[in-house]
Amino acid sequence: MKIGVLTSGGDCPGLNAVIRGAVLKGTEAYDMEFVGIRDGWKGLVEADFFPLTRRDVKGLSKVGGTILGTSRTNPYEGVRGGAENIAKTLYGHKLDGIIAIGGEGTLAAAQRLNNDGIPVLGVPKTIDNDLRATDYSFGFDTAVNIATDAMDRLRTTGDSHQRCMVAEVMGRHVGWIALHSGMAAGAHIICIPEVPLSLDEITEHVLAAAERGRAPLVVVAEGFKLKGQDEAYSDKGLDAFNRPRLGGISEVLAPLIEQATGIETRSTVLGHIQRGGAPSGFDRVLATRLGLHAADAVVDGAWGQMVAMQGTEIVRVPFSEALGELHSVPLSRYEEAAALFG
Ligand code: F6P
Repeated sequence: MKIGVLTSGGDCPGLNAVIRGAVLKGTEAYDMEFVGIRDGWKGLVEADFFPLTRRDVKGLSKVGGTILGTSRTNPYEGVRGGAENIAKTLYGHKLDGIIAIGGEGTLAAAQRLNNDGIPVLGVPKTIDNDLRATDYSFGFDTAVNIATDAMDRLRTTGDSHQRCMVAEVMGRHVGWIALHSGMAAGAHIICIPEVPLSLDEITEHVLAAAERGRAPLVVVAEGFKLKGQDEAYSDKGLDAFNRPRLGGISEVLAPLIEQATGIETRSTVLGHIQRGGAPSGFDRVLATRLGLHAADAVVDGAWGQMVAMQGTEIVRVPFSEALGELHSVPLSRYEEAAALFG
């Protein structure tokens, strides 16, 4: 069998470990041949790929990023003849199928291609941990570790100056990174997209922490919105709330907190640091296992499915189970963290 492997969407630590796991298992156990497809679906549309051998994946489980490159190209949007070109590429280069490692957008395209007769197997990738049907996604644990370390550092400087520190982490639609890193670092309030809070609700915790002699730590996911923020703040000239791009909410929150509490406040956007560098041990193991199982699934002809972690097992689920609603933070999990805010 000859299989193409691609990584698509935002990168995250662990992508290379998946590639290595699939290539090692596929070549050794099943005598499969692999090609690496450059820059996601774009490389498949343009037939831009290269041979991927055991030698090419040597030592890769600890290496961040993706050796294949990635892009957010969707074969059904903005690429003329995308799906037809893919079919031609597969036929012309005698590829038996594709392993697509990616998030919601990638898996939605994979599902559609599969329905159009192109054999695709999925491997879930989301640093935000927002895909359904998999309990954890690789990259998430690494991001939580990086964010936790950053917050520990923010706390020592915050303590020295008696300042309130606002740390902004990734999480476009869901607050898993904020919840986990905030709990780990002992945040006094965690702001996530699933739970809108008013400025008063935030400052109540900031003031309570300061009264106990602590330098308040506020953790905010990039997709968080204050309750009624558009109506309440746009007339105060705070247009930053209404800007189209995500991120930067902490830079808006910090002056509001300072104004409302009188406590000097600083903000830090952790941004892409959370996605860079080596994966944690947990992510290396998870990603490698997903790669190994992807090779097994390909041999079994399990096209139209993705490998996923449920409990401690790697299972196969149809794309439809992973797509649709996002895996968001349930209120019960938020309440566990909230019990620690004080
Ligand atoms: O979806 C993963 C993610 O890291 C989000 O948390 C973030 O909003 C987005 O990607 C950033 O995308 P880009 O790397 O394209 O700026």
